[in-house]
Amino acid sequence: ESYDMAGHDTYMHKEITEQADAVDRVLRGRIDDRFATVHLGGLNLDAREARSVRRVKILGCGSAYHAGLIGAQLVEELARIPADAEPASEFRYRNAVVDPDTLYIAVSQSGETYDTLAAVQELKRKGARVLGVVNVVGSAIARETDGGVYVHAGPEICVVSTKCFTNTAVAFALLALHLGRIRDLSVADGKRIINGLRRLPEQIGEIMKLEPEIRKIAAEYAEAKSMMFVGRVRGYPVALEASLKLKEISYIHAEAYPASELKHGPLALIEPAVPTVAVLPDDELLDKNRATLEEIKARSGRILAVAHGEQEQADHTIVVPRNEVELDPILMGIPLQLLAYHTALALGRDIDKPRNLAKSVTVE
Ligand code: G6P
Repeated sequence: ESYDMAGHDTYMHKEITEQADAVDRVLRGRIDDRFATVHLGGLNLDAREARSVRRVKILGCGSAYHAGLIGAQLVEELARIPADAEPASEFRYRNAVVDPDTLYIAVSQSGETYDTLAAVQELKRKGARVLGVVNVVGSAIARETDGGVYVHAGPEICVVSTKCFTNTAVAFALLALHLGRIRDLSVADGKRIINGLRRLPEQIGEIMKLEPEIRKIAAEYAEAKSMMFVGRVRGYPVALEASLKLKEISYIHAEAYPASELKHGPLALIEPAVPTVAVLPDDELLDKNRATLEEIKARSGRILAVAHGEQEQADHTIVVPRNEVELDPILMGIPLQLLAYHTALALGRDIDKPRNLAKSVTVE
């Protein structure tokens, strides 16, 4: 990919539309269909070491942290290793207990974010094994980690992350599949996930066709005073990332909450001027999520649902193609990148260079 705009008005738009190709690239050459296994050349973690991992801790900042939250869920679901993600900026200051049986993973587009790099260096000083999930080849975090997975999203110029976020989540799916197949994931389940991964580029292409519809919805929501983003479990990191994206480029205040927590406080904010975006994968929590939508409706809140079928409680539904349930969050983030983009465009914002933000924060 070249750095030219290729007919797009912004780098963000160009990068959103590059996602099908980018996902194709992160998968290429890494899957062995015969055994439903994954080959990650730079991982530097043999099968015995992988089997001895007791926990996975993922660290990153901003969108990288959110991609890490998706990654943690994938590792738990596919490899059945307890996993969580934490902002690297918090981790490095809280004198965390560093455990020799934990595999630490630093996530970064640039590989230069100072908070993430400092967390890696502190972990190394304490003898931890740290891998990287990084986009920029040869960057500081790529060099300081013991091994890892390159994200292969290609150059990302826009300050806010789109294609790198998606590719990072896919890289985590590969890593989780790899760890799973070394541990207890069956060949059949491995094949199911591999087939799902292979369908992603085409399904991303289908989501891109929804852009005219999303543009119309964005024009309506651009008047919002504030926006609420909700999701349960698999949907929650998607809600977090979509809310970050919206506030970064549109400057509309947005909050993300687990849908289950809405009734414990933020429901007080719901009114017609505060619409809710609900991320609704078709999983075992769909009925619970629909009940939450009823609660929002009862308070006159407008609802935009991102789901695999029309939702009767919602004012609008963006219908996203269905993949495997573990991979659906990866697809559900993409229409919400377009929502943030068209909301910011409707408000006349400088999308590629949002105020007060830098592409990578390389200082304390
Ligand atoms: C900055 C950017 C964010 C980005 C974060 C982490 O704050 O504004 O968009 O997600 O850094 O960047 P990294 O390069 O480490 O992924």
